[in-house]
Amino acid sequence: MSGEAAIGIHDLSFATTQYVLTHATLAAETGTDVAKYHVGIGQRSMSVPAADEDIVTMAAAAAAPIIARHGADRIRTVVLATETSVDQAKAAGIYVHSLLGLPSATRVVELKQACYGATAALQFAVGLVHRDRTQQVLVIASDVSRYELGSPGEATQGAAAVAMLVGADPALVRIEDPSGVFTADVMDFWRPNYRSTALVDGQESISAYLQAVEGAWKDYTEQGGREPGEFRAFCYHQPFTKMAYKAHKHLLHHCGHDADEGEIARSLGHTTTYNADVGNSYTASTYLGLAALLDDADDLTGEAIGFLSYGSGSVAEFFAGTVVPGYRAHLRTEAHRAAIARRQDIDYARYRALHEHSFPADGGDHPVPRETTGPYRMAGLLGHKRIYEPR
Ligand code: CAA
Repeated sequence: MSGEAAIGIHDLSFATTQYVLTHATLAAETGTDVAKYHVGIGQRSMSVPAADEDIVTMAAAAAAPIIARHGADRIRTVVLATETSVDQAKAAGIYVHSLLGLPSATRVVELKQACYGATAALQFAVGLVHRDRTQQVLVIASDVSRYELGSPGEATQGAAAVAMLVGADPALVRIEDPSGVFTADVMDFWRPNYRSTALVDGQESISAYLQAVEGAWKDYTEQGGREPGEFRAFCYHQPFTKMAYKAHKHLLHHCGHDADEGEIARSLGHTTTYNADVGNSYTASTYLGLAALLDDADDLTGEAIGFLSYGSGSVAEFFAGTVVPGYRAHLRTEAHRAAIARRQDIDYARYRALHEHSFPADGGDHPVPRETTGPYRMAGLLGHKRIYEPR
């Protein structure tokens, strides 16, 4: 892609929750060897939303620093990707648009395809900017992953939002053509409308993910993509960080590309640091991987990064990005590390109470206790309407 035509990620910011449950606490409660979590799945803790936090408050918290830095004059579209939507009709992004005071001359829409949604949003954003290079698109991925208490998925829960400003002449990462795409109708993970927790066939979901990696890569190659050896690092969707290693080894084996553990660690290591502490943030997870890579790795100027986005059900996409010279001056490393470090440790009983909480569906007045110290909160439900406010 020539410099003149470059379109991509101009800014990136993430937010997570008020609370954190460590895997040491979970292991002590469930009588599990903590090494299964720390080593077996590669997770150390999970972000837990306070009673007054949800995908909207996290999304607004992630996007606010982007608006503060760049203004909203060029943003004509907001796309919020989530698989933990708060309303069947109204787009969660409209609440975010209101909290951030964005102009009324904006289109706002919500996108869903499990953990893949943010990548669709990013690609659609690139398309919109191609049509008019003066415009920018605010892409937000925000999710809270919840499984049944005591289920194998419980240890892979988490929550976060990533906001990305997409535009021409980006400061961070240029998104390249081509993309490799893959769709297969499988029931590996899903959440029917009447359930608050996801259903999953754990082992089936791992094989479906690996099949999708192969399928997306095959299409990427057929579209004339790069060779595996050309990439400095790979950002995979990380339902748990060990999955990135499984996926990457599968890809390299499929390509007949021999790599030792050192090379694999070099390609993936920096991408897993935030996800290991935050847990599965579903559609935000691949881009939390990118945030960690940009924040933690040595200079990546001019390097190619591979992205593998997977959403159960299933859709996958492989594409490449190139890191822009000077990108380090635009990073938010300190704020990102603070977002993780500031979370308050909670015990199992508190986590369980938050997990089991649900709003009455009677249309009454249900205020929510003040808990979050983040910039936005959900004040309550009133007449079936969600009420949000700056804190
Ligand atoms: N010390 C070290 N390692 C240990 C250990 C110990 N004491 N005990 C177990 N392990 C290892 C196991 O060997 C295993 O590693 P390998 O897979 O490399 O062999 C790992 O820890 C996990 O152990 P199990 O397979 O026995 O764990 P489990 O069956 O209880 O749960 C899981 C694993 C099925 C992935 C479960 O966490 C789950 O259902 N997660 C939700 C679904 C999911 O994340 N799927 C991923 C693909 S789908 C997707 O990506 C979309 C999405 O976001 C959901």
